[in-house]
Amino acid sequence: MASLLLLAIGGVVIVFYLLSRFLTLPLDPQEPPLVRSKIPFIGHVIGLLRHGTKYYSDVANECKHPIFTLSVPRGKMYIVTSPALIAACDRRSKVVSFAPYVVEFGKRILAGSAHSVRLLSEDLLEEKGPHASLRSETMAAMHRSQAPGEHLDEMMRVTLRSSTGFIDSVTDGPAAGDASVPLFEWVRQFMTVAGTDAVYGEEKNPFRDPEVMVSFWAVDKDFAMLGLMVMPDVLAPKGSRGRKCFFRAFREYYATGGLETASYLIKARYEVNKKYGVSDEDIARFDLGVCTALLVNTVPAVGWTLCHAFSDRALLAELRHGIETVVFPEGKPDTTIPTTVTVNIKQVTEAMPLLESFVREVLRVQSNSASARFVLRDTVLNDGAGASYLVKKDSFLGMPSAPVHSNEAVWGPTAHVFDPTRFLPERQKDRKIPASAWRTFGGGNALCPGRHLALREIMSILVVMLLRCEIEPCEEKGRWKMPAKRHHISTSILTPVQDIQVRIRPREELKHLSWDFIWESGTRSDES
Ligand code: HEM
Repeated sequence: MASLLLLAIGGVVIVFYLLSRFLTLPLDPQEPPLVRSKIPFIGHVIGLLRHGTKYYSDVANECKHPIFTLSVPRGKMYIVTSPALIAACDRRSKVVSFAPYVVEFGKRILAGSAHSVRLLSEDLLEEKGPHASLRSETMAAMHRSQAPGEHLDEMMRVTLRSSTGFIDSVTDGPAAGDASVPLFEWVRQFMTVAGTDAVYGEEKNPFRDPEVMVSFWAVDKDFAMLGLMVMPDVLAPKGSRGRKCFFRAFREYYATGGLETASYLIKARYEVNKKYGVSDEDIARFDLGVCTALLVNTVPAVGWTLCHAFSDRALLAELRHGIETVVFPEGKPDTTIPTTVTVNIKQVTEAMPLLESFVREVLRVQSNSASARFVLRDTVLNDGAGASYLVKKDSFLGMPSAPVHSNEAVWGPTAHVFDPTRFLPERQKDRKIPASAWRTFGGGNALCPGRHLALREIMSILVVMLLRCEIEPCEEKGRWKMPAKRHHISTSILTPVQDIQVRIRPREELKHLSWDFIWESGTRSDES
């Protein structure tokens, strides 16, 4: 009996030994230190599936290494948490590269044709220069069309027109005052249309069809399952159906002259796609990528911004006071006569740095982007203070934002406190925050091209809502309780585990005013 037991134990040891030899790759002493999981081989994979990007933060908080290695079946993941090493990765962003993820995204989520996926895979290392492949030229077009300037201003005008139309229907409609809505869902309804109107044009935007909107969010919900590419119709039926509906609607958009009413962004992308011989069918598929980038972070970011602003009475009063000083230079109109006020939001945001500082702080605490990279060549990362680490070809590398965003060495002892003034220009004089430490929009050559648009959209909705509305939770006797966050793999801004039911009503003291929100350079907000 004893010998049988010994034999069984010996067998288990041999199986584990062989599995570990076969499934784990050897670690060079120069590579980042290995963090073992409690369950051998698959422990980290289980952790990631269960906790999403939060798992990186949990391991980082426990091990405290500036960079570490997680062993996964037949591969390695390096996780970087030190701003100095993140900066080193950003400097080597051609070899510590985002490009392979774009290819995988094109294949798995956008279901692009073999031809278009091949085009996306060309010149991964960008050895032919920055403008010699479909991928890099598309990104150049994305950056150009969303840089501060006339194209961005035009998109902002449309966003405002579209979103304020929706907000009007709540505050001026028959249910005004009693409207009770789930806040994040409510924001999602109007921001999905407003955000895509700005890009695809109000006239022919496919999202004007509610079926397309529902389809898009079904794809987002089934993102991970669709990414597996295993029987999507069976394992992710809603997402798979939604994807087909989305592609159909966008094919139709191009076939019926949608491009003529589109923003410069879509026109510039179309031109690049045509230059490289991408078919209209694949262009429609790529638009799923555009809409994902455009919406999945901005929508929850607007929701969180409203939560933070309306849940803190002192901050709410300060924000309103600052905005009203710009909008009503002679004081609030004391009138019961219907009056129209024109508000130039561009001017308000420029005159009031607290708005941008506050929104940046919301994004600091509510983001956990993964900044996923693939190592295309063996590379040494140097932290500039004497430590260096080898990262090996064909490994995954992640730079999750949450551990950096809560690092006291960067943000000081208040790293864990919500401080709306943290990003004010005068505060930067005392404590300059390195660019590699605020990772909401990623970095290196994958830095988000939509960051200017996103910040402006969030600030604009904030100004409109602060001027026009009161928002109050329906439960907890009107007291705000910040919802818990749901961690994902796919998005940078987290979504709430549970939505908050709120009542939205027009501000009593300003209810005689009608509003005209505009976005213009160099004009003054006038009362008329
Ligand atoms: C609050 C809103 C947003 C957040 C937090 C956000 C965040 C990010 C992050 C973290 C990345 C990856 C960067 C990296 O890995 O280093 C990224 C990439 C990207 N974002 Fe955004 N984003 C937002 C809004 C937008 C908008 C409005 C657009 C407009 C279309 C956009 C377009 C893109 C694109 C195209 C990429 C891929 C860049 C590349 O392939 O090089 N994003 N974004």
